[in-house]
Amino acid sequence: MLTKTLVRVFDIPNLDAPPYYTPVESETPFPQVRLPSGHLAVHLTRYEDCRAFLADPTVSRTLCNVEGGPTFLPGTTQKELLLNLDNPAHARSRATVTRDFSPRGVENLRELVDRTARRGIADMVAGRSPPDVFEAVLQDVTSATVCHILGIPLSDRPMFRVWSRTIQEAPPHDLAGIEHAVKASFDYLMDFVRGTRAAEPTGFIRSYVDHRAKLEAPLSDEEFVGVLLGILLGGDHNALSVMTKSLYTLLSAPALWIRVVEEPERLPAMIEELIRVIPIGKLSAFPRMTTVPLVTSVGTIPPDTPVYANVFLANRDPEVFADPLTIDFDRTAGKPHLQFGFGIHSCMGPALARLEIAAVLRALAELVPNLKLSMEPGALRWINGTVLRRPDELPVSF
Ligand code: HEM
Repeated sequence: MLTKTLVRVFDIPNLDAPPYYTPVESETPFPQVRLPSGHLAVHLTRYEDCRAFLADPTVSRTLCNVEGGPTFLPGTTQKELLLNLDNPAHARSRATVTRDFSPRGVENLRELVDRTARRGIADMVAGRSPPDVFEAVLQDVTSATVCHILGIPLSDRPMFRVWSRTIQEAPPHDLAGIEHAVKASFDYLMDFVRGTRAAEPTGFIRSYVDHRAKLEAPLSDEEFVGVLLGILLGGDHNALSVMTKSLYTLLSAPALWIRVVEEPERLPAMIEELIRVIPIGKLSAFPRMTTVPLVTSVGTIPPDTPVYANVFLANRDPEVFADPLTIDFDRTAGKPHLQFGFGIHSCMGPALARLEIAAVLRALAELVPNLKLSMEPGALRWINGTVLRRPDELPVSF
């Protein structure tokens, strides 16, 4: 266990992993990487380049989601997924969730998240669940919240979590597994939209479907499921992955955990710093295609070029974040990190993820302040997927 107070990213075992792209000797003026799909992509790593590129209205995700297109996961995914849409289709679909996922919109989930976290901790402390904080607390918080938001039964979790785990955590060569899981998740959500399965009247699915007839330009069933799939996948495993690695980082460097216990009022700043340095998986923002010449600090990129904006490296750009590899809870200078992406496809769930991570850490700090990993951090079992990676266990003593 690390005893020093100055903690750097590389002090935390396995927090960073070799990326799934391969840097290549570029024959163009631009730095390039080879994506898992085999395509060469221009590699943007500076903060300002990544931010401007992701915000550029001319770059396209739709052009990447075609047979043989530049991608991270093998094959194509449902064209209605938010991440696959360009404007104006994207704005139309995304507008359905803007309010519910805003900081104010997620406030009504606070009580549920807090209750789920505290019940999980109480069960673990009383010995009703194993002394593994991942198993007993974390994974319940994100999955129960997603069920509540969508209005789908908690009892379906063992089924849909197998699919969502495959999509986000499978290795890139598992083409058949990923394709099956995407289709199964899509069909499952479609059943609620079409009424073959019963959704709770208070959840997002029923409230949209029940009001759809009154809307001027309602989404089709497929478009709506494209939005729902983002909630089912992102709301559960994305948030869980970062929450697990945040707690793992704190417990691997107890000086950081002590700060959480002693200064809970500073949790939001601490969480922002953890999110800045913690890569969600082995890849960051999905590739885009240029459609017009684009000026960047590495030169003007021609149209029809795949580009990979590496937000992990952008978040460690020394021109923006002083001493970028230090996990500095007192960081004041710098700009907002890009871990949630930027531009039209920027993550829809930052407010929810922040609320959940803060609620879990606050409850743990209050109820089990002496929390410690009961194994050496380097010995923990990890899941190493294409899109997400995280420890698959957090055995603790308290
Ligand atoms: C700390 C946790 C999370 C991180 C680090 C994260 C990261 C990201 C990133 C980087 C993107 C942009 C990808 C790109 O531009 O290619 C994204 C998009 C997205 N995220 Fe998250 N995410 C997190 C949590 C969530 C949650 C809780 C939800 C669901 C409620 C969610 C749903 C989505 C959706 C639907 C998109 C696509 C948005 C669009 O295309 O308009 N994410 N996320």
